[in-house]
Amino acid sequence: MAETKNWRLALPLAELEKLQVKMVRIASKQIALFNTPEGIKACDNRCPHEGYPLSEGSLSQDCILTCNWHNWKFDLVSGENLLGGDRLRTYPVEIRENEIWVDITELPYPERFSAITNSLHDAFDDYSYDRIAREIARLIRLGADPFDVLRLAIEWSWQKMEFGWTHAYAGMADWLVLYDEHRDDNELQLVCLVEAVSHVAYDVLREQDYAFTTEATAFDEAAFLNDIETENEDAAIAAIRGGIRDNLQFDDFEPALTRAALAHYNSFGHALIYLTKAKSLIGRLGRVAMEPLLLSLVRGFIYASREDKIPEFRGYAAQLQNWGQDSGQKPDARQWRRQSINKSMQVTVACSANPPETIYQALLLANAINLLSFDIAQQDKVQVTVSGNVGWLDFTHGLTFANAVRKQCSRYPDLWPQALLQMACFNGRNAGFTNTEIDLENWKSDDLDQQMNHLLDRVMDHGQGEHIVSVHLLKTALAVREEIAILGISDAEILVAALTRFFDSPIKRRQARRTAHQSLQFVSKE
Ligand code: FES
Repeated sequence: MAETKNWRLALPLAELEKLQVKMVRIASKQIALFNTPEGIKACDNRCPHEGYPLSEGSLSQDCILTCNWHNWKFDLVSGENLLGGDRLRTYPVEIRENEIWVDITELPYPERFSAITNSLHDAFDDYSYDRIAREIARLIRLGADPFDVLRLAIEWSWQKMEFGWTHAYAGMADWLVLYDEHRDDNELQLVCLVEAVSHVAYDVLREQDYAFTTEATAFDEAAFLNDIETENEDAAIAAIRGGIRDNLQFDDFEPALTRAALAHYNSFGHALIYLTKAKSLIGRLGRVAMEPLLLSLVRGFIYASREDKIPEFRGYAAQLQNWGQDSGQKPDARQWRRQSINKSMQVTVACSANPPETIYQALLLANAINLLSFDIAQQDKVQVTVSGNVGWLDFTHGLTFANAVRKQCSRYPDLWPQALLQMACFNGRNAGFTNTEIDLENWKSDDLDQQMNHLLDRVMDHGQGEHIVSVHLLKTALAVREEIAILGISDAEILVAALTRFFDSPIKRRQARRTAHQSLQFVSKE
């Protein structure tokens, strides 16, 4: 079928020859016409950067158009961006009987989609937040599937995460939850997409590819778990590839992944948190996302530090053996209050004859109380050892890990002992950095639902410069919202109060003096 062109009369030729530059309106477009040494040229008048008029720009003899607002430069013949970011749309021009005609035909969808995604890729590689936002907005205006931008962000990043998953993928899963909740607000939906994509872009900025093996072997759970345990990345990756090749679904991998995530106190619980987010993301983005997300997740499991092997947590293995040798103690969050790691695990084992869900709730509450009573003065202490480098984000993991524990152990109840002891480890790790007094009254809310909505509204315009902070606000808020749904009102009040305190307190993200102090101490012993 012949392509239908949309030629429009723009201006008498004589008028442009007199003015040299002229902005005309055609349909709903502003088009800038230039009389150049290479002929009449037409382009969008609105600069693709911030929309200032290119008809006020400067044109060189070799047809380079400079937007004078921020000095972006464009090849006016091709539209290529020579300095700055986004491409400039140019239009075919014809002279017919001393009149300038411009073809404003839209390019076919595939070409426009490809042009925008190429530009988005450039913006992604440059970690250009505003440009990422514009390109995603263009894709949505084009009618593209908004989730394609997330799939592309994964495609562009998964091999660049040297040690596997980061909070960026976890955050993507959580931003998608909010995306779904704002179906009637395209601005807020764009926030979710841009925050998700830009965090990924930030985490792989200037990273090279760290290739995965392309081998594929039949998936066998026991062998896979052994590969993770022995840190044999190639074998574990090959097993996942083989499983996908053999058409296994996420559910088929989930038991092994959950066991692997809980086999140790892995990276302070991140392995399990990420697993639940992988499940959520794959569920939303489809099977196409499964291979990159699972391979990167498994790489993260391989590289995870096994905290239960360091002296502080070494009692974990023995306490796991003791599980069931309880003293009939009833779980109560107060029993874990300001207890050491070992004592926290002892208390947990002492309660182990109780239904795991009741121990879980008490430990969840204990971790929430820690967040509610974190001694903020710790942030300003200079003369502390590295073990004192504990901050707000460490405390939030007590809750986000708990949230992941409940989800996974509900499906695989034999894993409750590991998970509960690891929650106890979290409690013991953080409890020493809490105040003796709990300032519940100051942080309590009368209406928990209203307060949760308020905090999640704040996430949508969080104002944080660091993705790692905003994503912790987001994931902690979502975890708390899910957990309070199963708690009694007085316990739920504590979780929401703890979350509110986290949102409203100063977060010190750089310890310049402490780092200098610790470095001098360290080097003096070399
Ligand atoms: S508006 Fe043109 S370069 Fe900024």
